[in-house]
Amino acid sequence: MATRTQSKSQSKSSSRSQDSKSAFSWGDSAGPLIGAAIAGAAMGFAAHISRKAIIQGMEASAGDWFDMLRKDHDEIQKNVEQMLATDESQTWKRSMLLMKLAHKLDKHAYEEENVVYPALRDDNDTIEADQLDTEHGHVKTLIFDLKQMDSDSPLWLETVRKLRDSLDEHIRMEEERVFPKLKQDLDEEQNATLTTMVNKAGFMMA
Ligand SMILES: [Fe+2]
Ligand SMILES: [Fe+2]
Repeated sequence: MATRTQSKSQSKSSSRSQDSKSAFSWGDSAGPLIGAAIAGAAMGFAAHISRKAIIQGMEASAGDWFDMLRKDHDEIQKNVEQMLATDESQTWKRSMLLMKLAHKLDKHAYEEENVVYPALRDDNDTIEADQLDTEHGHVKTLIFDLKQMDSDSPLWLETVRKLRDSLDEHIRMEEERVFPKLKQDLDEEQNATLTTMVNKAGFMMA
């Protein structure tokens, strides 16, 4: 009986091995394909590792998510002050500064709208998150208006002043009220996760 069971099992296993050979055998031409697949996977893995290393390096140099966003705010406000210091003869400089500001704001808004404001909503600060979102919309509208305007228009400086006032108020709310509370409500691990996510979002927009 034991012998019969053994032989039955051996024969089953041998037939499975033949089946698998017939179903999955790729023949001699599979060698280069498999090699390429392994090389591709290794390259992908290397890219993932280096991307991770870059993100970790950025985190180490830039501090946590709040420090990073505060640094962005300083750069944005400096950029706006440079715009306000121009006159209507400096049309090229105005266009360059506007382009630079629009890019910084896009990256910054992407980080906040896709990471920080959702974290605020999860922390039951929905009203604040919605207000900040609306203010981003207002800033985007002013940038849109400036992009359509001639750089020597008499309205240019007036629009940049409106932009400065909106940004100053918005930044004050984030830095003095909303972000410190969020940072305090989250534990160390949650803050670290937020930092990584802000970095990844910024990396996508860089
Ligand atoms: Fe914001
Ligand atoms: Fe901000």
